[in-house]
Amino acid sequence: MGNGKFYITTAIDYPSGRPHLGHAYEKVAADCIARWHRLLGEEVFFLTGTDEHGSKIMKKAQEAGKEPEAYVDEMVVFFKQLCDSLNISNDRFIRTTDADHVKVSQDIFKKIYDKGEIYLGNYSGWYCSECETFYTEKDLADGKCPTHGKKAEWVSEESYFFKMSAYTQKVLDFLEKNPESVLPSGKRKEIINRVKEGLNDLSVSRANVPWGITVPINEKHTQYVWMDALLNYVSGIGYPGTNFKKFWPADVHLIGKDILWHHTAIWYSILLAVEIPLPKTVFSHGFINTALGEKMSKSGGTVIDPLEIVNTYSSDVLRYFLLREIPFGQDGNFSEEALKERLNNELANELGNLVNRTIVMIEKSGGKIPDAKTDAGLQKKLNLKKIKELMEKFELHHALAEIFSFAGSCNQFINEKEPWKLDGKEKDAVLYSLADSLRIISILLQPFIPETSKKINQQFGVNQGLIADCEFNKFKAGTKVKKGEILFRKIE
Ligand code: MSP
Repeated sequence: MGNGKFYITTAIDYPSGRPHLGHAYEKVAADCIARWHRLLGEEVFFLTGTDEHGSKIMKKAQEAGKEPEAYVDEMVVFFKQLCDSLNISNDRFIRTTDADHVKVSQDIFKKIYDKGEIYLGNYSGWYCSECETFYTEKDLADGKCPTHGKKAEWVSEESYFFKMSAYTQKVLDFLEKNPESVLPSGKRKEIINRVKEGLNDLSVSRANVPWGITVPINEKHTQYVWMDALLNYVSGIGYPGTNFKKFWPADVHLIGKDILWHHTAIWYSILLAVEIPLPKTVFSHGFINTALGEKMSKSGGTVIDPLEIVNTYSSDVLRYFLLREIPFGQDGNFSEEALKERLNNELANELGNLVNRTIVMIEKSGGKIPDAKTDAGLQKKLNLKKIKELMEKFELHHALAEIFSFAGSCNQFINEKEPWKLDGKEKDAVLYSLADSLRIISILLQPFIPETSKKINQQFGVNQGLIADCEFNKFKAGTKVKKGEILFRKIE
């Protein structure tokens, strides 16, 4: 962080089916962080997209009776639609089939080959096409992939290998010297222990998977899908051009815990081989389980369609729930019951009511922001420093709780002051305090629930502010307010 610029990425999703709630979760969290940094006044680049090559997609296309190209073109629409419907503010949606990405992938492969760090050999071993990962006999549990529980397949073919073993010490040194390299910190320790066992050379090409980027030195091979997908983080910002120079190294790669190994051991080694600095932080978020406690994934069959939830409730209700319910970095549960509860108690009762009561009271007393100052006691209830620190530490759930705690203080302030019993300057002071506080709450909530923040701003007649505007007494007296639609309807 710093230098006034911030580069954040999500994993790129396999468009091997419709997007699920896990995909939605990662994008919403990354979007929240990206928006927060924009509000800090930084220049942000936020990258997300789809990982379209490899055996998994090839198989899905075959099952659907389609050519892989046609298949991914069809599926990617749903992933873009997911971004739109969740208000994801990504600066680019990269597809690994994009021409610029293909070129960068080949260039980087060639660069490592020219350095003498890619050699031709034979690969014999186990492969899980679900996560596109090679496993040794001892990694497997009963012949099945340790992550997906799917039967691994035996692969024996000619393959190019990347001398990843040569990078064990460098990868280890980086992880040990940089406490922020992998977060949460427990995950860093796990990775360190694994790397200490030593890195194996990595098979980086497939001779029998035609759906992929052609190996630049041998057209009979395609690049191993991770040797293609990971490179999106540099191709997506125009490696090796000026935009890349401006934004690299990435501030955060936000990914799920199942692919942390790929984003540390493998990704670091590739970057070290091409002498590109390593990313500042790889943040590993948890998995969303259904209320039944089952891991939610396409292969597991317990899929919740995020688009359906958005349609039934709204984008902000889902965003709020995901960001508030799941401690960021840990696993969490999704259930519609829990979502309804948060919608009714927190969004409708706490926030919606506060906005509504305030606007109604101001409209009743002339419809304009009065000329007054914000109550000193109420000001003390907002702990902006704490919110900033929590965001810096990626404790999104705590930051959101803290913002809502201030909204709670505003509601309490109304109940205590009973402004309907006041008039003149006393009433003005209460109304100004509430409007000024809501102006600030709306800024702070923008990264979490942007549509709601926009609606609040409209009702109060203000433009989107920055974190720097979260100072009290900045609301211009005389500004006209206008009651809008109710923010959240309760659902029984
Ligand atoms: N294509 C690879 C990533 C390549 S990144 C260079 C991939 N795709 S995926 O579609 O399987 O997963 C995309 C992201 O969603 C990953 O970060 C993964 O951890 C995350 N999730 C998948 N299921 C999830 C949940 N149930 N809960 C939360 N996140 C989950 O892996």
